[in-house]
Amino acid sequence: MSRLRVRALPAPLEAAVPVADPATVRPAPLTRDAIPGWFFRVDQEAFGHLLAAQTAAGRTGDILELGAYLGRSAVLLGDHLQPGERLTVCDLFDSEAGDAENAAEMTMSYRKTLTRTAFEANYLAFHAELPEIVQAPTSVLADGRIPAGSCRFVHIDASHLYEHVAGDIEVARAALADEGLVALDDYRSEHTPGVSAAVWQAVFTGGLKPVLLTPMKFYGTWGDAEAAQRTLLARDWRAEGYTVDEDAIAGARVVRLNRPAAAAPSAPSRSAPRRLALDLLPPIATRAVRRALRTARAVRGRSRVPSA
Ligand SMILES: C[S@@+](CC[C@H](N)C(=O)[O-])C[C@H]1O[C@@H](n2cnc3c(N)ncnc32)[C@H](O)[C@@H]1O
Repeated sequence: MSRLRVRALPAPLEAAVPVADPATVRPAPLTRDAIPGWFFRVDQEAFGHLLAAQTAAGRTGDILELGAYLGRSAVLLGDHLQPGERLTVCDLFDSEAGDAENAAEMTMSYRKTLTRTAFEANYLAFHAELPEIVQAPTSVLADGRIPAGSCRFVHIDASHLYEHVAGDIEVARAALADEGLVALDDYRSEHTPGVSAAVWQAVFTGGLKPVLLTPMKFYGTWGDAEAAQRTLLARDWRAEGYTVDEDAIAGARVVRLNRPAAAAPSAPSRSAPRRLALDLLPPIATRAVRRALRTARAVRGRSRVPSA
């Protein structure tokens, strides 16, 4: 009997309409941002930029997503498919999970809203054809059905349990071509320590090289991380209101990209008393207060407001 306590994800970006009956016909979403999910603006832009750059460089290959939910990220991945390329998504949708922890996670976070039918309707609202759908635990992909080296981009966003994510990373490693990229969701969230463990294990013992960190996702490659970073930084993110920082981890450079809530047009302006207080505090305290406020705003933004 497991003593693991599974915590629910924060509410998805858009209020999901509960679907009691899988046969219920839901209205098709009018915009991509109307699809419920946890795929935030900074990652939408990073995915779009990296995938478009691969295409522009003539790098072809399939795209694989582990964990599709209602299609918010899958629809964007589908946008970048070139002739002859294939998108495969793997998700349990309305199937049973294979173990108790995963079943608890499914019940807590997805069961009320998620059906394969709803995913398909959302996807078909933006694309003429469905992707290849594997309705099963992601562990089935270890059987080699994704040809080795066939993918240019893999998005891992399924189970948050360490053993599952470690397996998903192995699937990505085998599936990716030399310069392919993997994006891993929830690598640093409070409720997903198993993802963090699997990601950093892959970095320190499995040859995965960090390329980019955003608040929600880790991007890496088993190929040339510096080349991927040059591609990323070819865009003037700062001019678009993003913050770009660089860190070194065990001697390797990693880029950090964020879009602070303050940059969003809807951010409330700072009150005069708060401005005065910040101005009067010594610089070190001001910086600490600003950091705390930024964090609080980012957390509020993540759990409540659409990031569009
Ligand atoms: C966080 S959601 C994916 C969000 C989606 N990528 C987006 O951006 O909107 C996680 C998904 O993983 C699926 N999932 C959880 N455990 C799984 C497993 N072991 N195998 C396959 N899918 C799983 C859930 O059904 C859920 O749809």
